[in-house]
Amino acid sequence: MKHFSRSPECVFYVCCGSKCKKSGGKQLYKQLKGEAKHHHLKSRVQIIKTGCTDRCKMGPIVAVMPKNEWHLQVTEEMAAGLLNEYLTPHRPK
Ligand code: FES
Repeated sequence: MKHFSRSPECVFYVCCGSKCKKSGGKQLYKQLKGEAKHHHLKSRVQIIKTGCTDRCKMGPIVAVMPKNEWHLQVTEEMAAGLLNEYLTPHRPK
């Protein structure tokens, strides 16, 4: 069995099922990917699209692991602060 030698600090699962996609899920996914790239966080965080997570009425949904925290009805404004909320500040060595 192979393992990643460096796993990310956290993983954001963005629901892009049909209902969440209509309510902005795909845009949130693009936004989070763009912010991670812009702030050079790609080695620290992973952004993954998922299918329906069976919470359609509360979409768009962003689940953050390993804390297992589910954010409901996420707006672009909320998504803007999510990366900061979960990533610990990088301290120089
Ligand atoms: S489409 Fe996102 S929870 Fe169903």
